[in-house]
Amino acid sequence: YHVDWDLSAAEKQGHDWFMRKEIFEQPKAVADTLLGRWSDRGELVLDELRISPEELRRINKIVIVACGSSFYAGMVAKYAIEHWTRVACEVELASEFRYRDPIIDPMTLVVTISQSGETADTLMAIRHAREQQARVIAICNTNGATIPRESDAVIYTHAGPEIGVASTKGFLTQVVACYLLGLYLAQVRGMKYGDEVHAIVDELNSMPDKIQAVLDGIEPVYKLARKMAMSEDAVFFLGRHVGYPVALEGALKLKEIAYLHAEGFAAGELKHGPIAVIEQDTPVFVVVPPEGRDQLHDKVVSNIEEIRARGARTIVLAEEGDAAAESFADMVIPLPKCSTLLQPLVAAVPLQAFACELATAKGHDVDQPRNLAKSVTVE
Ligand code: G6P
Repeated sequence: YHVDWDLSAAEKQGHDWFMRKEIFEQPKAVADTLLGRWSDRGELVLDELRISPEELRRINKIVIVACGSSFYAGMVAKYAIEHWTRVACEVELASEFRYRDPIIDPMTLVVTISQSGETADTLMAIRHAREQQARVIAICNTNGATIPRESDAVIYTHAGPEIGVASTKGFLTQVVACYLLGLYLAQVRGMKYGDEVHAIVDELNSMPDKIQAVLDGIEPVYKLARKMAMSEDAVFFLGRHVGYPVALEGALKLKEIAYLHAEGFAAGELKHGPIAVIEQDTPVFVVVPPEGRDQLHDKVVSNIEEIRARGARTIVLAEEGDAAAESFADMVIPLPKCSTLLQPLVAAVPLQAFACELATAKGHDVDQPRNLAKSVTVE
């Protein structure tokens, strides 16, 4: 007697790989991270946070500690947290943190980010921080894992289980959870809760729809990936401000599952080295900040011009209708309109989808890439 029932196929809900399923789950995952966080009066409530507002007001430094994609989520968060709270925020790789005798004390808030909640380096960093009497908040996706159990408090991302080894919805929801923490800190510390913060809260709630719009338009990205699957060329990613960690994350996805040489660079560093490796037809993804008051956008656009003048094939992620960015693009991946700080939530998605499609076109197992493990429980 044989039951023709493939449990794993059922769990993938019609997708060929868990990774692809998880990429497409991101609108819901982000909505779930945001769910139930606001009171009727429009105030942010983080019920799980068992650290008192008094204590959070005393904090004079924030240190984010994480590994892999979680580290890049932390890099994104630093920009937002410092901007909203005006508290100095450092981001450090967990594997480096403990070994350099970091300056932390009871006024330091250590924020660890871990999808699995079991990463050994991150756990060791927590133990070290708590020995110095620092308060530790874990941002985690796995209920009851070791890292949240050993922390003073936890914010769960509620993304649902992530099976693919390369993090996708884990990353996006970590950024959202960090933003909630930053907004909450700004709230309890009585920062001028100005129009900007209110606008961000509204915009956060609109992000699931914007992520969905990116996924609905993903076919041209897949086509590009299938075309590029024939080549073993290195791929570069440029970004600035929060687009910089997005570039690093885009490169990491390609390394992890497509086994390609891929590097992310800060666009402003181009002239200090990376531009030397640009040759005829070198593929370069560029994340362009939205047009705004600051000069970020224009600076990145001139970087695209520079690399294109040296022969780069430019794949430009820019807000739809950004004519300046488009004028130097070999291909445009349009992003929905959003503010600079929220752009990573839409810009990371085509890069994940690109890596997934390219790797599967090469015939790789994207859920179980070679040499990698989902949670790394050794230092
Ligand atoms: C491994 C995974 C990555 C992940 C990193 C950190 O390398 O393959 O996808 O970003 O660990 O894991 P964590 O569970 O601590 O977020």
